[in-house]
Amino acid sequence: MSERRHSRHRSVAEALLVDRLSAQLARWQGERGLADYTVTDLGGGTGTLAMSLAEAGHRVTVVDPSLDALASLQRRTAERGLVDRLRGIQGDAGNLVELLGADSTDVMVCHRTLEVIDDPATALAAMATTVRPGGVLSVVVPQRRAAVISQALQGHIGSALQAIDDPSRFDLDELVEMITAAGFEVGEVEGIGVLSQHVPPAMIESETGLADQLYELESRLSTDPAFRAIASWAHVVAERVVA
Ligand SMILES: C[S@@+](CC[C@H](N)C(=O)[O-])C[C@H]1O[C@@H](n2cnc3c(N)ncnc32)[C@H](O)[C@@H]1O
Repeated sequence: MSERRHSRHRSVAEALLVDRLSAQLARWQGERGLADYTVTDLGGGTGTLAMSLAEAGHRVTVVDPSLDALASLQRRTAERGLVDRLRGIQGDAGNLVELLGADSTDVMVCHRTLEVIDDPATALAAMATTVRPGGVLSVVVPQRRAAVISQALQGHIGSALQAIDDPSRFDLDELVEMITAAGFEVGEVEGIGVLSQHVPPAMIESETGLADQLYELESRLSTDPAFRAIASWAHVVAERVVA
């Protein structure tokens, strides 16, 4: 494993998430025998993940309400020569089906966005309508317990108390229930960023090999039920149920 995977610009947790999702999608693609697939990235922002999927040869649509983010996405897409495979559309969870149509995408990605949507259950139902039966959903949300721990470790006990009831944070069980209720069959469930955010970045950068060790540690802990429950991010991969 190379040090390039997690640089100053790409944290250990981000590198693990991208590696895991790429492997999960490759497995699913192989099982289905697909040459390539279409991806919708809801709340994809400036398109960092969308670009890596487009670079892997897939056709990606980013749907995001922010015109600023879409302008940045358009610029980056042109710079990387991906205009034929990556497009941005202004929209949100509320008009997703209207914009793209039912059963119109093979893979739906919704990372770090469900928590800013007013009605996550309705948004997941819209994603289920947009994904083809047998298609994949990948969701990443911030976890409640991680926020409580992080605030308390910084001495912000009042904020830790508030984080217990923060409606914009999720518990893994609750997320799995919501995704299932929307019409998906949940597959892999993992915690991304169990401990790495508690290790000072300067320390990671100063010691050769530490980032790789931390990556391995995160990788090992990510599927352990006790550790994944306190990770910064919950990552759930599910398949749309075939009726
Ligand atoms: C924290 S960013 C996440 C960006 C990217 N998915 C990532 O993982 O880095 C949240 C994104 O959600 C978008 N957003 C806000 N409200 C939304 C909504 N109702 N439906 C879809 N996207 C929304 C924002 O414009 C922003 O780009």
